[in-house]
Amino acid sequence: MPPVLNTRVIFKSIPQGYPVPGQTLAADHSQKIDLDNVSLAGGKILAKTLSISIDPYLRGKMNGTEKMSFEIGHPHAVAKVIRSENPKFKVGDHIYGIMDWAEYQIFENVPELRILPPNSGIPWSVFPGKTAYYAWQEVAQGKEGETIYVSTAAGAVGSVVVQLAKQAGLKVIASAGHESKLQFLRDLGADVVFNYKTESMENVLKDHEPIDIYWDHVGGKTTSTVLMHMNTFGRVVVIGQISTYNVAEADAVSNFPQILFRRLTVRGLGVIDHEAKHGDEFYATIPGMIARGELKYNETIVRSLDEAPQLFLDVQKGDNSGKAVIVLADD
Ligand SMILES: NC(=O)c1ccc[n+]([C@@H]2O[C@H](COP(=O)([O-])OP(=O)(O)OC[C@H]3O[C@@H](n4cnc5c(N)ncnc54)[C@H](OP(=O)(O)O)[C@@H]3O)[C@@H](O)[C@H]2O)c1
Repeated sequence: MPPVLNTRVIFKSIPQGYPVPGQTLAADHSQKIDLDNVSLAGGKILAKTLSISIDPYLRGKMNGTEKMSFEIGHPHAVAKVIRSENPKFKVGDHIYGIMDWAEYQIFENVPELRILPPNSGIPWSVFPGKTAYYAWQEVAQGKEGETIYVSTAAGAVGSVVVQLAKQAGLKVIASAGHESKLQFLRDLGADVVFNYKTESMENVLKDHEPIDIYWDHVGGKTTSTVLMHMNTFGRVVVIGQISTYNVAEADAVSNFPQILFRRLTVRGLGVIDHEAKHGDEFYATIPGMIARGELKYNETIVRSLDEAPQLFLDVQKGDNSGKAVIVLADD
């Protein structure tokens, strides 16, 4: 087969505020790859990308704090091995890990890749999405009868948290910024649902306090407000800070003394730190629950890397619903 186009998404410039499709991130069609003959010497593997997860945190990678790179790496993705010179990976294996925004990729650093279990009965795009499970097990430890407030609850992480909390018998308060997302949250079983853009969070929390667990995806003023409604010995699970990602000067979190007054535990969690401890348990539990319909999910899907820069902006602005993914092939 002659060399084929290897479309990529490249990082062109540091955004000032929100990313601008085509200017800060852009699809690139300048690279070709010879799939039959490209060298894999030294134990490399060649894989075809199936799905790429568009996670909000990638915006932080574009601030110039890291060494400026013209290829923006770090999305979590699933790919299928099409050639291998590494005995641990065989042709047809589905692999999960941190990858490039590209249709085809060669991996040298194979220890970072996980081989996914076959035939799980769910789309490969659903696989990336472990943050909710790890942080639920590791930090939240919700108990029946407690109250949790989940911010950006209709998103990839939030929607799983809402369901894990309901299954554990908690009262769930969930917020999102679009009316269309509120029905999804009701369908997931959330007890109290509100649009944080049109309703007063202060009033909602006042009506339903005390909050035992705050699942923080937002930071800034949101977190400052929630701290005033927490229960004694409550837990604040700090997973994201999206209110800070696209602004030059973010609002600081105030009301810090409440951490002492209310004896709060505030803990940040990075998904990559918990792969070794909870990864096997995740794959043994969550895909099966999704396949059996015990966990619902919602995705915003685009089918080409040309659409990736716009989807990336949509996620930052809240114009996605559920998990935002680029699906390049179903298998
Ligand atoms: N720690 C980790 O390892 C880890 C891993 C994955 C994700 N995260 C973080 O977890 C959070 C959720 O990630 P996700 O992948 O599930 O994304 P997501 O919730 O699907 O997408 C981001 C959502 O944030 C909301 N949003 C945007 N700007 C906002 C603002 N100023 N205030 C309040 N909400 C805002 C939007 O929804 P609305 O319609 O609700 O506004 C948007 O859809 C993000 O902050 C992300 O960075 C952390």
